[in-house]
Amino acid sequence: MNKEDFPMLEGDLVFFDNGATTLKPTQVIEDMDKYYSEFTSNIHRGDYDAAIETNTLFDETRNTVKEFVNARSEDKCIYTSGTTMSINMVVFSFMKSHLKKGDVVLLTKSEHASNILPWFKLKEEIGIDIQYIPLNKNYELTINNLKKVVNNKVKVVSIAHVTNVIGDIRDVEKIGEFCRENNIYFCVDGAQSVPHLPVDFSKSNMDFLSFSGHKMLGPTGIGCLVVRGELFNEMDPLFLGGGMNLDFYSDGKYELHTDETKFEAGTPPIGEVIGLRSAILYLEKIGMENIHEHEKKLKEYLVSKLEKMKNIRLYNTISASGIISFNVDGIFAQDISIYLNKYKIAIRAGNHCAKLLHEEIGEHNTVRVSIYLYNDFLDVDRLVEALSNKDILKEVI
Ligand code: ALA
Repeated sequence: MNKEDFPMLEGDLVFFDNGATTLKPTQVIEDMDKYYSEFTSNIHRGDYDAAIETNTLFDETRNTVKEFVNARSEDKCIYTSGTTMSINMVVFSFMKSHLKKGDVVLLTKSEHASNILPWFKLKEEIGIDIQYIPLNKNYELTINNLKKVVNNKVKVVSIAHVTNVIGDIRDVEKIGEFCRENNIYFCVDGAQSVPHLPVDFSKSNMDFLSFSGHKMLGPTGIGCLVVRGELFNEMDPLFLGGGMNLDFYSDGKYELHTDETKFEAGTPPIGEVIGLRSAILYLEKIGMENIHEHEKKLKEYLVSKLEKMKNIRLYNTISASGIISFNVDGIFAQDISIYLNKYKIAIRAGNHCAKLLHEEIGEHNTVRVSIYLYNDFLDVDRLVEALSNKDILKEVI
């Protein structure tokens, strides 16, 4: 799909490391380039033409993001540096002042570090209790397993919508409905879902949704935290400085903005917001449902080939995203990654920052193939051919 839009694909690279980051289409690169070469200016400070153009793009992108994830007009979109900063903001700008010792936060063992370590830190600071919702035999989260562990001490469920190694798609609509009925805050790590499938903030009753621009064809250094409007005024900024205050006085009193800029002290990533906007417009043109269907087809094709290979152990054949994790008998995952690089195939090997997952799957390291819209059947064939090499053991060594 649209390979010609991606300069990195002009050669014979097969890029299957899309869970880590994604390639950038010319449209995104050109829009950012235009900002730097034609109308560079800061935001919310200037009255000249370039500044007005920048302000408009910067401010309007919040609505582009909100519409993209179906947030309501009263919900808020804070620009952050990425998913990690967004989740840290949830924990320290909001949860720290809303939770108390003994309150339970539910996670799963397949979460990424960025949805675990901030909660560990909060546990150290205020004594929250962290518990893990059990996964089923396919390492998935089911609503029944969630219901089994919920009691009146549970105040937060914080989970990935799509996990980054197993690639299971959680039923966020059911989970969100259950959380709302039980007065539980519902925090969603959308790093691996927002780029790949339709995400509905409102319908899923999300309170907080975090994601990163670079995993959805946009630049690095920009992400979003979408916040349910009713909770927004209860958040405290983590950083203070220019651009977020209304006024301050020599006696130490100060007044802060009341919109999203309250959380964006200093000069924000303006070029990156422009790039994110362009990436969203690009994705919308193709359609998120089409992207999801395309990835599913490629995944099924790849799984059907890998299942026939006796030396391959697959961990997530049934998960419905474009993520496939496996190991090759007798070969360390990273050696497979180095071997595939010889054939110009980029994948990721290791623990993928999901460092509790080995307690579920019994392996610390896996080979991960993560598919995106520009991959095609020929890419899969190249990967399968390289993995089918009878001399693979010799070549790896
Ligand atoms: N979170 C990214 C990944 O899963 C870096 O690869």
